Amino acid sequence: MKKAYQIAVIPGDGTGPEVIEQGIKVLSSVAKAEGFQYTLHHYDLGGERYLKSGETLPGSVLEELRKMDVIYLGAIGHPDVKPGILEKGILLKLRFSLDQYINLRPVKLYPNVETPLKDKGPDDIDFVVVRENTEGLYVGAGGFLKKGTPDEIAIQESINTRKGVERCLRYAFELTKKRNKAKKLTLCGKTNVLTYAFDLWERAFYEIAKEYPDITTDYAHVDATCMWMVKNPEWFDVIVTDNMFGDIITDLGAMIQGGMGIAAGGNINPEGVSMFEPIGGSAPKYAGKNVINPLAAISALQMMLEYLGEEKAASKVEKGIMFALSKIKDLSAGKMGYSTTEVGDMVAEAASV
Ligand code: IPM
Ligand code: MN
Repeated sequence: MKKAYQIAVIPGDGTGPEVIEQGIKVLSSVAKAEGFQYTLHHYDLGGERYLKSGETLPGSVLEELRKMDVIYLGAIGHPDVKPGILEKGILLKLRFSLDQYINLRPVKLYPNVETPLKDKGPDDIDFVVVRENTEGLYVGAGGFLKKGTPDEIAIQESINTRKGVERCLRYAFELTKKRNKAKKLTLCGKTNVLTYAFDLWERAFYEIAKEYPDITTDYAHVDATCMWMVKNPEWFDVIVTDNMFGDIITDLGAMIQGGMGIAAGGNINPEGVSMFEPIGGSAPKYAGKNVINPLAAISALQMMLEYLGEEKAASKVEKGIMFALSKIKDLSAGKMGYSTTEVGDMVAEAASV
């Protein structure tokens, strides 16, 4: 018998629990079809727990999470908690503590999904962003001087280590090879202004490129990347970039692939515990209404299964998603023509065969 996967589930805030429930429904359906076992371990991290106990991510929970095979995360963010506390205390702390150094974000337009880009279709929008996930501006380096005075100084430093940059670039080269599509890797940076950070990125990029003669390398400044993502998204196969730029361009990516209702991501530590999540956030105004689109969370499940090596189950999930997309007219919350649970049922059913 195959191994039983230990899966941590963090439904989190807002619509997180509703969409994760649909993902678990689909997981149960494909596990039955493919004959693998799993155990779910629920953790109530999020805004409610913080408001009750002041805890974000207790050390004891982190230690338990280290023993899991994967983490399935809904959303973190609560309207009654000051911005930054839960994001830094839970989401970023998980990414950093578990050294999930890759944030993998596919930008794929499925058939029957509307993109705001004129005259572009599924053949044009199919690329992956490899975002560095543990360094850059996100490390929280810097501080204030003379805070609250007219002479105030705020410094926020971008930390880029050779090791951190190199492992991210190597992951991106390997992924470009494995995808085996256009075999083109674009470094997205800002070498004309950030002449230290992206000098390091660029040197490492072209050094490593020598080991991959079959891969075409390409460079674009981040502002130009945004422009090309809208004008000529078909130019991209894999894009690799730092943490901050990756954050920004993947929201743009989510929009051109049909919106937050469908965009998923993986926080990956190839040698450790990885975490998969819909990237849309907790959408508190739709919470508890059974109207939010669960497809992004289900797509995160698909990524999780691929990561676990359950390729067949993953492609069944994708088939289920594509079936649902053939029925749903609008991917936005409340406009799907189906409830959250109905979409979950539809995918679970279509993925079961
Ligand atoms: C994301 C989010 C997070 C980020 C926030 C919530 C800290 O925007 O996953 O892209 O900036 O990484
Ligand atoms: Mn973001």
